[in-house]
Amino acid sequence: MPQHFELSLPIDIDQVKGFLSHAEGEALFRCASELESGAVAVEIGSYCGKSTVYLGLGCKATNSTLFAVDHHRGSEEHQPGEMFHDSALIDDQGAFSTLASFRRTISAAGLDDTVIAVLSSSAQFAQAWRGSLGLVFIDGGHSLDAALLDYRSWVGSIASKGRLAIHDVYPGAEAGGQAPITVYRLALASGLFKEIVAVDSLRILERL
Ligand SMILES: C[S@@+](CC[C@H](N)C(=O)[O-])C[C@H]1O[C@@H](n2cnc3c(N)ncnc32)[C@H](O)[C@@H]1O
Repeated sequence: MPQHFELSLPIDIDQVKGFLSHAEGEALFRCASELESGAVAVEIGSYCGKSTVYLGLGCKATNSTLFAVDHHRGSEEHQPGEMFHDSALIDDQGAFSTLASFRRTISAAGLDDTVIAVLSSSAQFAQAWRGSLGLVFIDGGHSLDAALLDYRSWVGSIASKGRLAIHDVYPGAEAGGQAPITVYRLALASGLFKEIVAVDSLRILERL
C-alpha cells in the first residue's frame, strides 16, 4: 500500500503564471506522490513552473526526480501577436522566455534538489534519454505534429504501471485544440494504457 502524502504548497501558486487548475495540480501531485522511491518522471512543457511545482512536490515526497523539459521559448500560441502571448515575458534580448520566471518558481518552492531543468526540445532530449520512467506529463506544443511527436518520443520509456498524463484534453473543438485528445485516444487505442484519472482537462493513464 503506497504511503499517502498531503499536498502543502510552499508558495502562493496563484502568483505563478500558467495554464493549470488547482484540481489538475492536485491530481498531478497525487500521481507523482505515488511514484516508487528513486523513480524518475519527465514533464514536457513547464512554462513558468506551475505544473512543475505540483509534480515536483510529489516527487520530493517520494524521493524521486523530475526532469522538467522546456526550451522556454514558448509554444505557437505564446508568440507575439498570438492569443496567449504575455509581453511581460520578453527577456533582455527581446525574445520570449519563461526561463527566469521558471527558475524563480522552482527555487521559491524549495525544489532545486528535486527538479532538473532541461533546456531542450522534448524530441531532442528523448533521443538522448535511456531508462524507464514512472511518469510522463505531456503539456508542450499543442499543434498535432508537436503533440504526436511528444507522445511518440516518450511512450516507449514509460515503465509497466507507469503513468502518462496529458493536459488540455477537450472533447470538442469549441472548448480547445484537438491535438491533446488525439494523443489521448491514440494511447488508449494502442491497448497499452487504461485511464485512471480525469480532472478538468487532465487525463492520467496507467501503462498495463
Ligand atoms: C502550455 S505551456 C505549459 C504550461 C505548464 N505546464 C503550466 O502548468 O503552466 C507549453 C510549454 O511547452 C513548451 N514547449 C513547446 N514545444 C516544446 C517542445 N517541442 N519541447 C519542449 N518544450 C516545448 C513551451 O515553451 C511552453 O513553455
